[in-house]
Amino acid sequence: MKLDITRMMAEVVGKHGSSGEEIEKHWPRVQSILQTLEARRKAGELPFYDLPDGGEFVERIEEYAEKARAKFRNVLVLGIGGSALGPIALRDALKPACWNERPDELRDGLRLFIPDNPDPELFSAVMEICDPAETLYVVITKSGGTAETLAQFSAVLTGLKQAEGEGYGDHLLFITDPAKGALRQIAREEGIQSFSIPQAVGGRFSVLSAVGLVPAALVGIDIRALLAGAAEQRETVFRREFDRNPSAAFALLQYLAHVERDQPIHVMMPYANALFRLADWFRQLWAESLGKKQSVTGETVYSGPTPVAALGATDQHSQVQLYVEGPFDKTFTLLLPQKYRASVKCGKHYPDLDSIDYLSGEDLGTLLKFEGQATQRALTAAHRPNMAFIIDEISERTVGGLMYLLEAATLVAGGLYEVNPLDQPGVEAGKVATYALMGRSGYESVKAEIDKERERPPRILE
Ligand code: PA5
Repeated sequence: MKLDITRMMAEVVGKHGSSGEEIEKHWPRVQSILQTLEARRKAGELPFYDLPDGGEFVERIEEYAEKARAKFRNVLVLGIGGSALGPIALRDALKPACWNERPDELRDGLRLFIPDNPDPELFSAVMEICDPAETLYVVITKSGGTAETLAQFSAVLTGLKQAEGEGYGDHLLFITDPAKGALRQIAREEGIQSFSIPQAVGGRFSVLSAVGLVPAALVGIDIRALLAGAAEQRETVFRREFDRNPSAAFALLQYLAHVERDQPIHVMMPYANALFRLADWFRQLWAESLGKKQSVTGETVYSGPTPVAALGATDQHSQVQLYVEGPFDKTFTLLLPQKYRASVKCGKHYPDLDSIDYLSGEDLGTLLKFEGQATQRALTAAHRPNMAFIIDEISERTVGGLMYLLEAATLVAGGLYEVNPLDQPGVEAGKVATYALMGRSGYESVKAEIDKERERPPRILE
């Protein structure tokens, strides 16, 4: 994976960029973080690093997927956050756009729906087009107890039981903790097929576990190639040399931009629709891992950069005005495929009109590629630090590699910010409040606190 950092440097973008001396000064810290991470990996504390090894569960997934693809037309993934964003990113990156809308004969895998949000308008629309008789429901939750996911599960169960009677279990697959949680219990009691998420792999680091691999295999993605791409990157993410470790270099440059130059916003901008949801997946990874009130030593730090996902060239006509002329509070990472998997040529229709004729015979991919370069140039001329991942072509190999590299970068960034990138106490607080509001037993005291807060007279404008 090539990371072009030229335009992050002060010699190119001026005082808003990083200097060689600054990198040299901070790199020893990264080296020591890498050493600790490597030791923790060897001690088995960070199993996400070794997901690319796959193992026998990959074969099990492939076998399962082959049978399911012969039996079903749709797969409906019920999950949220880290249990949904990875599968969405993989589907969008690695299957043709408008995948679910394609006629059956143009699809070599199941239609894959992942509503993610428990929005009743969205969810009922998805249920309307997924006939239970031809749908596999894949319920994904690491904890096994997330309200949104279990609500979605209970919502589909009624129609499924009506349609399939006692055979309803054949339409269910659970992906959850190997031992704990409500879903594991149901799987055990009702004999529902399941895959496990390794205990120490959290939601946002789980895309290369069954969480991402099962939906991917169901739509016909080559999961071995995906893992192989990630495994290739594993060779690079522990390297101790700045110039040979794009993952750690990315983490350090983003960190320095934030803490040394007050650029807390990080925009990831792919020049490919196929990668937009990967930028969205990264948004969660970076935000939930680094946005922390407390440091690892218990100090109150309120740290964390703010990740934003944008899309080239669409956002050139929406956000780039702000990016180029607004406050100097951002850095940019462009994802630049060097070629696209489809070709669409412009026709030659108006030879006398210069404003359209220069496009004649050109490919839309050429236009999009040059637009990426044009944005790099515009940002650089306006002294906005920007870097780019240069991606030969979007494929299982490059996507697996990029996602792995970004996960590894997140752990290095956690070390730099001195926070625990693997927990999410803020998310848990929201989960607890939801349980209380929904009347779950055991949460009465939280509900009482919420009721008390509600006594405060509201200020509502109309
Ligand atoms: O990254 C995380 O850990 C979270 O975003 C979770 O994925 C999300 O909260 C859903 O949790 P669960 O998979 O336990 O249902």
